[in-house]
Amino acid sequence: MKGIVLAGGTGSRLLPSTNSTNKHLLTVYDKPMIYYPLSVLMLGGIRDILIISTQEDQQRFKNLLGDGSSFGLRLQYAVQDEPNGIPEALTIGEAFIGHSDVTLILADNIFFGQGFTNVIRQAIHENKYATIFGYRVKDPNRFGVIEFDEEQNVISLEEKPEDPKSDFAATGLYIYDHQALKLVKKLSFSKRGELEITDLNKLYLEKGQLKVQLLGRGFAWMDAGTHDALFEASAFIKNIQDRQGFKVACLEEIAYYLGYISKQELYEVGKSMDNNEYGTYLLELAERKYTQQYWDESLHYPHLRTVKHG
Ligand code: G1P
Repeated sequence: MKGIVLAGGTGSRLLPSTNSTNKHLLTVYDKPMIYYPLSVLMLGGIRDILIISTQEDQQRFKNLLGDGSSFGLRLQYAVQDEPNGIPEALTIGEAFIGHSDVTLILADNIFFGQGFTNVIRQAIHENKYATIFGYRVKDPNRFGVIEFDEEQNVISLEEKPEDPKSDFAATGLYIYDHQALKLVKKLSFSKRGELEITDLNKLYLEKGQLKVQLLGRGFAWMDAGTHDALFEASAFIKNIQDRQGFKVACLEEIAYYLGYISKQELYEVGKSMDNNEYGTYLLELAERKYTQQYWDESLHYPHLRTVKHG
């Protein structure tokens, strides 16, 4: 399974902050926004990841994440020249995807919830054709909307409908089999001048090949595309982190627990920023003796842990 993070767009709703940088590099509380979707792919067990941005921003992402080795990842970079829509990420990533399946995530989507590692791992493991994730929202008309019948079968998908047929939005996380590369070529531009991911999902739906996994009320799914949304997401992350003392989407921590980086490597990254709380968190993690017991979710996947601790 390969992963793609789509970090394109102009970020016009976050001006003037996005005049000099990419929206997905702005911080959500104590780390760049792109850490959050990257953490989702990592928790899903994906290590080969393509980051798609504008040409102008590509170097900025490279400065931040490099080749990914400090997180145990193999990162590659590609460019989306024009805002032609989400499905274009698959075309741009065609050579990178090769013969694999692919999980695509939008770089402003933040997922948080107990058991999410299991949800994403299972969804990836069980995906036959296409899997999307539904989440109940108050304002469904801002999103792709999923309509269900009484037996929870999907009966329609609509992109930003004026009159939504349900309260369930399609989140910006999509798992596709290899057919997606062919299907995407059948799409045409919508009224807003983009290829629509909802149209790709509809092609799977018409073939009876779309699975929708619902994320329940115990989950948080947020985007961070406006000043208010960014502020609220930051406050949410700060609250959770301050209460429990665990960080959300701390890529070094995830890499350490998954056995991708050693205790020494974790320690060194922490040391390089030991004058701030992010750095001291990593140092404390490296110094803790009984760490595994806190990482309860990964215990469900002991075979995925090639532990290098010690
Ligand atoms: C896009 C998709 C939409 C989806 C949303 C999730 O919307 O088109 O179906 O619900 O992402 O973040 P956009 O960001 O293009 O408004």
